[in-house]
Amino acid sequence: MSVNLATMLREGTKQSHTMAENVGFVKCFLKGVVEKNSYRKLVANLYFVYSAMEEEMEKHQNHPVLSKVYFPELNRQQSLEKDLYFYYGANWRDQIKLSPAGETYVQRIREISNTRPELLVAHLYTRYLGDLSGGQILKKIAQNAMNLNSEGTAFYEFQDIPDEKAFKTNYRQAMDELPIDQETAEAIVDEANDAFGMNMKLFNELEGNLVKAIGVMLFNTL
Ligand code: HEM
Repeated sequence: MSVNLATMLREGTKQSHTMAENVGFVKCFLKGVVEKNSYRKLVANLYFVYSAMEEEMEKHQNHPVLSKVYFPELNRQQSLEKDLYFYYGANWRDQIKLSPAGETYVQRIREISNTRPELLVAHLYTRYLGDLSGGQILKKIAQNAMNLNSEGTAFYEFQDIPDEKAFKTNYRQAMDELPIDQETAEAIVDEANDAFGMNMKLFNELEGNLVKAIGVMLFNTL
């Protein structure tokens, strides 16, 4: 029993991907307009999201479906901790909290992990394949926009994955070989579209911060 899950996901989330690319915060980020305070809030939310995803995957590492896409070398929790230390300082843990959209995102990950763990594949796909696709470019943009040197961008560095392209090819193959039926594959595509939606909501919250920050900057120059 095998389904073309990798292709189903790519085709089935194309529209969501385009929508995510067009969110104001993402567009600004690509143009190099990145405000440090908004960015560190994103890093904080991503820390909670990846921690949830990675904790749940650890629990399910022997699950018949999830074991096939269990690649701890993808884990971002520690790199996000490094970045949080850089942006917030030694007491970063006391300073960060989940935003409302982050809360919904994390709750959904916990919920499906308890009720229908195969759907976690959708969340792994949406984040890790995206991270592996845009990593180096986004790292350069973040460094230039926020005048960073070597710190603050650990999130984009996959130390244990020397060839990201080859890794993605293997990952797609692993997705295609998952022992799932067509109905489950379709449910994973639906969940991936929801995961894109949850990411867009995270970005939208930050857009509000960005607008406020630009407002303050303009006000201060008057
Ligand atoms: C793949 C660009 C935002 C998730 C890709 C690829 C490119 C790209 C060029 C293709 C890589 C390849 O074929 O190997 C961009 C740009 C973005 C953006 C320019 C922002 C303006 C996002 C966001 C997410 C995301 C916000 C999700 C949170 C993904 C995923 C893939 C991907 C899951 C893998 C697609 C597949 O092969 O099935 N992206 N991306 N991307 N991106 Fe993005």
